[in-house]
Amino acid sequence: MARINDNFLKLKAGYLFPEIGRRVAAFTEANPDAALIRCGIGDVTEALPKAVQEAMHKAVDELGCRDTFRGYGPEQGYGFLREAIADNAFSGLDISADDIFVSDGSKCDTGNILDIFGPGNTIAITDPVYPVYVDTNVMIGNTGEADEAGRYDGLVYLPCTAENNFVPAIPEEKVDIVYLCYPNNPTGASATREQLQAWVDYAIKNDAIILYDAAYEAFIQDADVPKSIYEIEGAKQCALEFRSFSKNGGFTGVRCGYIVIPDTVFGTSESGEKISIKQLWSRRTSTKFNGASYPVQRGAEAIFSEQGKAEVAALVEHYMANASLLREACTELGLKVFGGENAPYVWVACPEGLTSWDMFDKMLQEANVVITPGSGFGAAGEGYFRISAFNSRANVEEVCKRLKALL
Ligand code: MLT
Repeated sequence: MARINDNFLKLKAGYLFPEIGRRVAAFTEANPDAALIRCGIGDVTEALPKAVQEAMHKAVDELGCRDTFRGYGPEQGYGFLREAIADNAFSGLDISADDIFVSDGSKCDTGNILDIFGPGNTIAITDPVYPVYVDTNVMIGNTGEADEAGRYDGLVYLPCTAENNFVPAIPEEKVDIVYLCYPNNPTGASATREQLQAWVDYAIKNDAIILYDAAYEAFIQDADVPKSIYEIEGAKQCALEFRSFSKNGGFTGVRCGYIVIPDTVFGTSESGEKISIKQLWSRRTSTKFNGASYPVQRGAEAIFSEQGKAEVAALVEHYMANASLLREACTELGLKVFGGENAPYVWVACPEGLTSWDMFDKMLQEANVVITPGSGFGAAGEGYFRISAFNSRANVEEVCKRLKALL
């Protein structure tokens, strides 16, 4: 019989969102007439920007004609998109098109990046955290078993609490790789320039690499909050940045993201040789990936057109106005509310005496609203729940009403 990868057996229960999906499916089967509103997974609800639609239609037409047809594209992404990204998303930050690797989304990128890192690294993650960072490390064998609270042996957990504004303190010990995500999923917190500078300084001093997930940068409202890690001095020496078109351009179903890897980030081989991370990732990409699809990359390029930028700004404004309504409703109810100001997630302390999953069940059964239990993102998320602002205005207004009726 074929041997399986035993590391998978260490994974705790199901991945969070399928687990929520299972509970919701059971509820809807038992209550087929319930008017359920989903504010669980952060999935966009509004239509693709017109500029994107037009670019994708045009690209399909090109593929439909022999003279303009294209087959395999460059594995790292088409030049037109890599250049549009460098010029628009990293203008003035000395990031070139060549530093950008286009993919089919950040979830895959944050998991796949582990391919190029060997065993034996000390890996730090925040708690609570986007579960993909943890589970992919478990799958690849970078951890031991999980304890009762779901914490895996071998990982360094960096608690993010209301006391530290959900930005972790610099650890005493030396780590080799640290995952940071700002604006943060799930807490909706943002990190200041000084906080990120402290992390970059730590990484340089310890020869560590920061895996910086900036999937929610488009939602930053405060002009002082950095949108990219490369705004921080020294970051080009130690950080990779993950970006996505899912949340700003509504690409959760279309699928497109990218990683930025400057030439100046290095790891070390077993023999102690300094190796370029970019070269390894490029090699890995050529072997395992045939590039994101052409129409999708044309659609992503259109996000950077004048029309695309205006349409994305309108989408962001819509979701952030939803976040404000949710914040207001929870605050009026006397709940402790975080996030939702520079991110599309509102992070709320559960009412006295309720655990995260109690609150999930109460919201589902009594208000017919799906939220995400904080403990699903890690032990330090216990006692909180996350409400996603990705929804129609009418649904968000209805959620606010139901919350008020419930609590
Ligand atoms: C979330 O709800 O945390 C996100 O939608 C997950 C993701 O982007 O993969």
